[in-house]
Amino acid sequence: MKKATSAPKADAAHTYPHNLDCNGTDVQIDLLRAGDEDELMAFAQALPEHDLLFMSRDIGQPRVMKAWIRESVELRRMPSLVARARGKVIGCTALMHDDHSWSPHMGELRVVVSADARGLGLGRHLIQEGFVQALSIGLEKLVAQMTTDQRGAIALFESMGFRPEALLAAHVRDRSGRKHDIVMLSHDVAAAQGRMAVMGLGE
Ligand SMILES: CC(C)(COP(=O)(O)OP(=O)(O)OC[C@H]1O[C@@H](n2cnc3c(N)ncnc32)[C@H](O)[C@@H]1OP(=O)(O)O)[C@@H](O)C(=O)NCCC(=O)NCCS
Repeated sequence: MKKATSAPKADAAHTYPHNLDCNGTDVQIDLLRAGDEDELMAFAQALPEHDLLFMSRDIGQPRVMKAWIRESVELRRMPSLVARARGKVIGCTALMHDDHSWSPHMGELRVVVSADARGLGLGRHLIQEGFVQALSIGLEKLVAQMTTDQRGAIALFESMGFRPEALLAAHVRDRSGRKHDIVMLSHDVAAAQGRMAVMGLGE
């Protein structure tokens, strides 16, 4: 796929499904649905293991995938999006939050784009969708975590206002047993929305 030269253009973004022009590639963004399991498993299993380490669970495992779909679709506790190009899954998001915890105002955003669809602007668009979903369910703070060597991912999140908040040493262990450091970035989405509203950019 061609690399992005301009920001993606979306029709009626934030309603689902909607389509997005990612530098000439037509991408559909939709909510995760009950029948998406097989497609999503194929997507997850094709990703390099290293790209999955930022998630606390291995979505390449069928039982983890089933639990994710149940949380998102049946229990409606984890808003999740799926991006497709030419009918094939090329990215997804999940917004973890727990109304019953001491951090009901906080959510963790997880975003992954397939290696051959990177650099088109899809990751940026999916993070923006995550902001909107977070605000729509009343979250005030978003965090995202990734291994410290994911320089592109860190640069992207920082360009969108996230700031490093914690470094977790040897925090995840890959399937070969090697441990990796995790950086946690955070974003005060409620304050950002307040500033946008003051500038008349609330929508
Ligand atoms: C992070 C990720 C979702 C980004 O997806 P993407 O579709 O490639 O992102 P985009 O095309 O929207 O934007 C990439 C931006 O990062 C920049 N970028 C990419 N690689 C970079 C690097 N190595 N150094 C600096 N900037 C980089 C691009 O220039 C672009 O910036 P621009 O919009 O100003 O041009 C994708 O790389 C991924 O799935 N990584 C593995 C999973 C992960 O670590 N997720 C983050 C944890 S939630």
